[in-house]
Amino acid sequence: NVETKVDSVLSLMTLEEKVGQMVQYNGSWDLTGPASNVDAKQKEENIKSGKVGSMLNVLSVDATRQAQELVMNNSRLKIPLMFGYDVIHGYKTIFPVPLGETASWDLEAMEESARIAALESAAHGVNWTFSPMIDISRDARWGRIMEGSGEDPYLTSKVAVAKIKGYQGNDLADANTIAATAKHFAGYGFGEAGRDYNTVHIGENELHNTILPPFKAAAEAGVATFMNAFNDIDGTPATGHKILQRDILKGDWNWNGFIVSDWASIPEMIYHGFARDKKHAAEIAVKAGSDMDMEGGAYENHLEDLVKSGEIDEELLDDSVRRILRVKFKLGLFDDPYKYSNPEMLKNISFEEHLKTARDIASKSIVLLKNEGELLPLKPSVKNIAVIGPLADDKNSPIGNWRAQGEENSAVSVLEGIKNAVGNNVRVTYAKGADHGTGVKNFLLPLEINETDKSGFAEAIEVAKNAEVVLMVLGEDAFQTGEGRSQVEIGLMGVQQELLEEVYKVNKNIVLVLINGRPLEISWAAENIPAIVEAWHLGSESGNAIADVLFGKYNPSGKLPVSFPRNVGQEPLYYNQKNTGRPYSAEHVTYSGYTDVEKDALYPFGYGLSYTTFKYGVPQLTSKKLTQEGSITVTVPVTNTGKLKGKEVVQLYIRDLVASTTRPVKELKAFEMVELAPGETRDVQFEIDEKMLQFYTANKKWESEEGEFEVLTGGNSRDLQKQEFNLNK
Ligand code: IFM
Repeated sequence: NVETKVDSVLSLMTLEEKVGQMVQYNGSWDLTGPASNVDAKQKEENIKSGKVGSMLNVLSVDATRQAQELVMNNSRLKIPLMFGYDVIHGYKTIFPVPLGETASWDLEAMEESARIAALESAAHGVNWTFSPMIDISRDARWGRIMEGSGEDPYLTSKVAVAKIKGYQGNDLADANTIAATAKHFAGYGFGEAGRDYNTVHIGENELHNTILPPFKAAAEAGVATFMNAFNDIDGTPATGHKILQRDILKGDWNWNGFIVSDWASIPEMIYHGFARDKKHAAEIAVKAGSDMDMEGGAYENHLEDLVKSGEIDEELLDDSVRRILRVKFKLGLFDDPYKYSNPEMLKNISFEEHLKTARDIASKSIVLLKNEGELLPLKPSVKNIAVIGPLADDKNSPIGNWRAQGEENSAVSVLEGIKNAVGNNVRVTYAKGADHGTGVKNFLLPLEINETDKSGFAEAIEVAKNAEVVLMVLGEDAFQTGEGRSQVEIGLMGVQQELLEEVYKVNKNIVLVLINGRPLEISWAAENIPAIVEAWHLGSESGNAIADVLFGKYNPSGKLPVSFPRNVGQEPLYYNQKNTGRPYSAEHVTYSGYTDVEKDALYPFGYGLSYTTFKYGVPQLTSKKLTQEGSITVTVPVTNTGKLKGKEVVQLYIRDLVASTTRPVKELKAFEMVELAPGETRDVQFEIDEKMLQFYTANKKWESEEGEFEVLTGGNSRDLQKQEFNLNK
């Protein structure tokens, strides 16, 4: 039994060895943030003497074996290291960035990509991923919005569970599975004004009803680890937040994994003005429940003294170490410390098969935003296509940020995908037209904005003039989204918008293909361009997947996991907002909106078109009264009214009309994907029960309240049909 083994190891440990388990070092000795000053040689000595519990960014079978040998051949207790890495959307085979992949609403697909990522990671020595990121974010200005699942707690919770299942499988001891991390606990996606690392002002209501549900789902799914966050919430840094970590996560939710800090987030509490110095930061963090110090140098230098002086109770360390050992036992590292450093594992991997899956998932993640006059799918009669734009022949951007070992320039570009699809039958001409406005080299370097160069416009216009259809491929560079990539403008950067407008003057038959990580402001395009395809940073097979959709090999089925604004000034923007006391007036300005732009989204949460059309019938309820133990069946008739077979994500939202705290105007509570043949009708059924109506009430408890509710069903969060029912408990 794991607990007995954990206790027996713990009973052998000295105070110094306990502290050691709570220390994590970066592997490359190359620091990517404010961190400890311990140099490489000293680090090696510390690893040898059992003063380190885990490392991050040690990559490859050989490197992890060498590091593990330092421990196994030298330390007294030979407690194996864990090796962590940011495997966010694939290890070598790169899948869509998480926001894009969530647009598939296909939980099986998301589990599968995590399973493949785990397999490839495990075969390269990595046994722990810092994923999934399940921070709810409603702000497209925040660069890391690409790394999460968008604005909705229910959808994000479902994705969290699918991802954890994919990474961890049914048994962490299986050599093909790795430990997952639910991050960043908590509130990181709510940084004020979309600025990364910024202050978070949220009250208890928002915290419990919006931010915490995906984390609770992750804890219940048995995620091995949590990572805390850089931000402060209402005055307390997340890393030093006892209520969040010790009381809620480890207490109320009874979760038994361990919490790793974010990179140096323990000493960063000094900059927050919450800790006097590193020693004080270590004391705050450990008391609050942070179990492992990622490259912060706070625990390794101060925990021992803090215990010896009586400022910290050694039992707190025992609890942390127990949690860390538990995960190591579950991973099977005590049985074989080298099980992930096994060169044989690579031999069983078919990267070709993985690429096929990557193509399939990438196609599913594409969202068709507009298709006027059925310009798409491109007809076989089209024999002359112009492909224009800075991202058209870009093999790097689709790999996205947080690309793990996804190689530079390894994606299939859109141009390549188109050429692969049409062979010699169609004339494909290409012009770059302009730069995408940014020159970014890697994760750490700042964006260089190149706003002005229009020298490529003339060629693009010439190419466009002579084509039947123009594919304009615009958007964002790989490193324009991600950590530290907050922006105040979220339109088409550089001169891309001008390029689009100039090309439009000579040929209006344009399909705009967007390659990006965040929601973009595309109001002009939405008004003028006949077809718009949201293709995100789709990963290794990007161009092939896009071609599959453009030529109708795959009928698009993606739906937005996040609202697209009409104007950046609307951010943060989300569908599940509160009604306010002044919701709407057509006659007066004194309502909650804007005088210069409509208040709703350009493309709302849950929105996405298909090459066929779906008609929804009014939802039918088996009863208008719900009791504590009972349930109501909601039947939603959906008909494929178009000419092609297609998939549709049928969505169910609920509104609690009067409650002890104000409630959102609607909240996603269920969804189902159906595939219908032309003319086919399906009665999609959902069950509503009391549990579904629970929220964090004025009593500070998760419970439901009696009264009137609306149930709303449809194909996106805006176009819904309504019925009402009552809860009488
Ligand atoms: O996992 C990441 C985290 O999301 C941001 N800071 C660094 C960590 C490790 O690379």
